[in-house]
Amino acid sequence: MKLFVTGGAGFIGSNFVHYMLDADPAVEIVNFDALTYAGNLENLAAVEKHPRYTFIKGDISQLADVKTVFEARKFDAIVNFAAESHVDRSLHFGAGEFIETNILGTQILLDAARYYKTPRYLQVSTDEVYGSLGQQGKFTEASPVQPNNPYAATKAGADFMVRAAHKSYGLDTVITRCSNNFGPRQFPEKLIPLMIANALENKPLPVYGDGRHVRDWIYVLDHCQGIDTVLRKGKPGEIYNLGGLHDVPNIDVVRLILKYLNKPESLIQYVKDRPGHDRRYAIDTSKIQGELGWKPRLVFEDALRSTVEWYLANRPWWERIRSGEYQKYYATLYAQR
Ligand code: NAD
Ligand code: TYD
Repeated sequence: MKLFVTGGAGFIGSNFVHYMLDADPAVEIVNFDALTYAGNLENLAAVEKHPRYTFIKGDISQLADVKTVFEARKFDAIVNFAAESHVDRSLHFGAGEFIETNILGTQILLDAARYYKTPRYLQVSTDEVYGSLGQQGKFTEASPVQPNNPYAATKAGADFMVRAAHKSYGLDTVITRCSNNFGPRQFPEKLIPLMIANALENKPLPVYGDGRHVRDWIYVLDHCQGIDTVLRKGKPGEIYNLGGLHDVPNIDVVRLILKYLNKPESLIQYVKDRPGHDRRYAIDTSKIQGELGWKPRLVFEDALRSTVEWYLANRPWWERIRSGEYQKYYATLYAQR
């Protein structure tokens, strides 16, 4: 199976590349990534010379970049991870790049799938397209799409383009909508790696609002396995929700990280809330469980502990990131709080 994987130098994409090369000797991967601030070839150092892996630098929102690759090779499937993925950046620095990569880029890939007759297209989407839940209930695939921040709105836009390509042209598409991931190699702008890195440097841990916002957390390799399952067995035109079945308030996650690192809770600093901050996410995974037999395997506490250990063991990885441009980002975003 020849896969065109986009965004494979980022957090989930790089975990997926590693996972797929290990899981199936019949898988060949072309990883197509623009190497934005979030793309890091260090994430793929271990497979750099792998005989079934090729890296190509390119931008999904540039037709010429995509065309060059598809003119030269045939693929069995496209798996689209490439995205601007951070809510706070979409709020503070504008949504232009989000629209270009997340919506236009998706459309260009769909056009490539159609024109070059790629048999399968998988869109990696997010539970954030559903917006926020009240105190009860969970997101099902039938929940209304009601994004509340620019990032989520562009991911929802992309999902609609995928739907349209299936309905209008009969393209064989599947969409996965997953909850919050955590694990090795996550860029330290997202909650869990940011809190681990700050705690290790004895810096304040900025918790937005009252810290009672609830997220469902899934270990990244469970997500990768879910994508593999949907890629092979998902029904064309369908959407599948994936989650870790572990929904907890942010403050509980932060406290657990401090406990594992043996750091004091006095490091927690409540800061100004994020605008449009979704209050609660929870995922109903019964469709994928019932139809495709997938469910998350890892226990949250064990997976979080092993993630903390990864950041302890790979200090140079995140220290390098935090020593560059990141400092400007952090100052801009967090000084205002
Ligand atoms: P990430 O920000 O870590 O990585 C994104 C990758 O995409 C980077 O390697 C970047 O260089 C690449 N990229 C960005 N713009 C590109 C472009 N125009 N062309 C080619 N490559 C480009 O993101 P992530 O957390 O690994 O998320 C991957 C996907 O999963 C995204 O589509 C995201 O919406 C989705 N998702 C993420 C989560 C989560 O918790 N992180 C949850 C559900 C879904
Ligand atoms: P994040 O990791 O940005 O993921 P998402 O916004 O896609 O869910 O944030 C997860 C939760 O943690 C979210 O409710 C916002 C909160 N949060 C903080 O409280 N402080 C922070 O510094 C960050 C980055 C997030």
